[in-house]
Amino acid sequence: MKILLAGGAGYIGSHTAVALLKAGYQVVVLDNFDNSSPEAVRRVEELTHKPVVLYEADAADKAAVLNIMKQEQPDCVIHFAGLKAVGESVKQPLRYYRNNIDTTLTLLECMELTGCRKIVFSSSATVYGEENPAPCNEEMPKGSCTNPYGWTKSMMEQILQDAAVADKNLGVVLLRYFNPIGAHESGRIGENPRGIPNNLMPYVTQVAVGKRERLTVFGGDYDTPDGTCLRDYIHVMDLAEGHVAAVEYGAGHNGVEIFNLGTGQPYSVLDIVNTFQQVNNISVAYEIGPRRAGDLPVVYADATKAKTVLGWQAKRSLADMCRDSWNWQKNNPEGY
Ligand code: NAD
Ligand code: UD1
Repeated sequence: MKILLAGGAGYIGSHTAVALLKAGYQVVVLDNFDNSSPEAVRRVEELTHKPVVLYEADAADKAAVLNIMKQEQPDCVIHFAGLKAVGESVKQPLRYYRNNIDTTLTLLECMELTGCRKIVFSSSATVYGEENPAPCNEEMPKGSCTNPYGWTKSMMEQILQDAAVADKNLGVVLLRYFNPIGAHESGRIGENPRGIPNNLMPYVTQVAVGKRERLTVFGGDYDTPDGTCLRDYIHVMDLAEGHVAAVEYGAGHNGVEIFNLGTGQPYSVLDIVNTFQQVNNISVAYEIGPRRAGDLPVVYADATKAKTVLGWQAKRSLADMCRDSWNWQKNNPEGY
């Protein structure tokens, strides 16, 4: 089977490419390198000793996507191609809506035109909003998002669901990621944020490598055991393997199915800092600062459905995540 990874040069896409190739799938990557580098795809080939067909193209460019899909005839599309920085989405909402919604519409239209009827979509735990208490399960109604990025995910889920109602031959798997961290154990591919990282783990690794002075922990007065927020951190290779399970499931099912990809185990910001320091034997300077607007105290998954229906569950520990994040950062201090 051949899988088209739109946005496949990015952090999650490149790790998923490794997992798919290992599982025997053929992989085609389409990316405009807005937030990634072709070097990531080259390293995927190096790690797997398998070829990846790579197209530099915008997933919102219908003529380009149609050509690629006609040429490649993929059995399934995985749609990673999106802008994902929460703060930036507040400042540039139109760019976020334009890119994220347009890529989704274009991919769906081109799938229809070329007879590809399976899509796996990168959604986010953010769609649960603040209304749903942790642990979040897939039966809960979506909540209200706190930023345009989150709303694009919620809207794209709706678009995909409506498309599947109208076309009974369409198979849609919505994957709601919790907090992916870590890197491939080789240290050859990993997360490569541009500028100042927004997310916790890349900030921690950049402090450890000496690129940033200290981490600010956003709030130490939450109603949690150590006063810092709890999240469901998941190793990116576990997440990647979740995509393989989703593609396998999707091949045999039409309609829409939603899966959380998380571990079900919450950890605090200080758990991350402390585990990172212990397993890597390196210190990370930090201070407790004010809360960040829009942060929820506790977010974690009910991971039961993916286990029972997909037969997938996360296997790697928090120590693995911290070790592999550091291994990537220290071997690639300037990224790709
Ligand atoms: P990433 O930025 O590393 O990867 C996204 C890829 O899409 C990049 O390679 C980028 O160049 C590409 N891209 C963006 N717009 C494109 C376009 N119009 N045409 C072609 N390529 C385009 O991000 P990631 O962390 O790998 O995330 C992948 C997906 O998962 C995104 O949709 C993101 O919103 C979603 N997601 C990520 C997280 C997370 O914590 N990383 C959490 C939940 C959901
Ligand atoms: C954020 C987004 C979410 C998105 C996800 C992946 C918000 C409100 N949510 O999730 O929509 O899907 O990233 O891109 O932005 N922290 C610090 N110091 C830092 C950075 C983070 O203390 O410098 C804390 C945060 O307060 C949070 C935890 O670390 O408690 C994790 O933060 P982060 O990695 O940004 O992920 P989320 O906020 O959970």
